[in-house]
Amino acid sequence: MFEALKPQPADKIIALIAAYAADPREGKIDLGVGVYRDDSGTTPIMRAVRAAETANLQAETTKTYNRLIGDAAYLAAVKPLAVGDTVDLARVTASQAPGGTGALHCLFELCKLARPGARYWISDPSWPNHEAILRHMGLPIAKYPYYDEATGAVDFDAMMAALDDVQEGDIVILHGCCHNPTGANLDLTQWAALTTHAALRGWVPLIDLAYLGLGDGLEEDAAGYRSMVSRLPESMIGLSFSKNFGLYRDRAGAAIVVAETPEDAGMAEGALAAINRLNYSFAPHHSAAIVATVLGDADLTADWQAELKDMRERVTGLRVALAEALKRETNSDRFNFIAEHRGMFSRLGLTPAEVETLRAEHGIYMVGDSRMNIAGFHPDDIDRFAKAVAKTIRP
Ligand code: LMR
Repeated sequence: MFEALKPQPADKIIALIAAYAADPREGKIDLGVGVYRDDSGTTPIMRAVRAAETANLQAETTKTYNRLIGDAAYLAAVKPLAVGDTVDLARVTASQAPGGTGALHCLFELCKLARPGARYWISDPSWPNHEAILRHMGLPIAKYPYYDEATGAVDFDAMMAALDDVQEGDIVILHGCCHNPTGANLDLTQWAALTTHAALRGWVPLIDLAYLGLGDGLEEDAAGYRSMVSRLPESMIGLSFSKNFGLYRDRAGAAIVVAETPEDAGMAEGALAAINRLNYSFAPHHSAAIVATVLGDADLTADWQAELKDMRERVTGLRVALAEALKRETNSDRFNFIAEHRGMFSRLGLTPAEVETLRAEHGIYMVGDSRMNIAGFHPDDIDRFAKAVAKTIRP
C-alpha cells in the first residue's frame, strides 16, 4: 500500500535546519527556525528549568499514568498565566498538550466537534503550520490581510474590512503577541476594536500564544489579548512553552478554553480529555512538570522571569543594531521597521530570488518569504549581514 503515497512537500521552516547543518561554509548565519540563541550561538537550557528538572528527578516517585486532561499542578499554574486575573477561573479549562502545535491541533478538533460548520480565519501571512494543520484536518480556511509591506505595520483597515465577512461562530486565529512571521503587532486600541467586532458578530477568537514574554514583557505582551478574553463570552488560547521556557524538544503546551459558564467549561474539559485519549492518551509529563515546578516556586519564577527579560532585551538590542546597520549599508530607511517590531521575527521584504542569493552567495539562511529569526544573530554577524543585503538588493 505504501507505493500509493506521494512525496510530501517539505516544511519550509523545518527544512532549513538540515540545509543549514549541511552547509560546510565558515561564517554561515542561521536565521531560519525560530529558536532563541545567546551570544555564543547556543540555545540555552534556562537556569530555572535546569533547577526544576534536577529537583523533579530527585522527587519523582512514579511514572504511572496521570490524568487524560493533564497534570493538575501544571494546569493550575498555566491558566492564570494565560488569562490573568480578570476572568473567573471557573470559566476556564485547559488541557496539557505536546507543545504549541499539539495545543492548536487539539483546539481545532474541539471546534470541529462544537461548531462543525465554522470557517477558520488566519492572518495573511501567518505561521505556515496554521494553514497546513487546518488543511490536513479538512477544515475550511479563510484569510484576512494583516501586514502592510510598505509601512512595516499591521494593515488594520484591511484586516477589519476582511473580517466583515466572518459568519457567526467562525473561529478567528490571532497571534497573542510577537506575530509570526511579520513581527508587527496589534496595539491595545486595535485589540479593543477587534473585541467589539467579535462581540457584535459572534466570532470566537483562538489566540496562538507561542512567544509570551519575548516582545515587551510578560504583562505587556498579554495585555491586548487578555483584555479581549476578559470581555468576550468565549475564547481559546493555544499556549506554547517552547520559546519562553526554552523547552522546544520536550513539548510543553496547553489548549485553554474560556467558556461562557462553568458548566460549558466542564463540557469542554470532557471533550478535550476525550480528544487526548483518541490522539495520544497522555501528553508528555516531563516538560509540563518543569513548568509546574518553576511557576509553583517564587524564587524559580523570579529567576525564569529575569532570564526571559535578558533574552528579550538581547533580541530588542539586536533589532536596533540591525536596523542601524541596514540603514547605513543601504543608505535608506527601508528597514527601520525592524527596530519597531517585537518578538523573534521580522520579514525583510526581499523576493524569494534575493533570499536564495543570500543563501547561495553569503551563507545566510532565512525562510523563503524573507522571515528572519532575529534571535539567531550573533552581534558580530550584523555588519556582514547588512553588507550582504545591500549588495543583494542593489539595482
Ligand atoms: C518557527 O516558526 O520557526 C517556530 O515556531 C518553529 C516551528 O515549529 O515552525
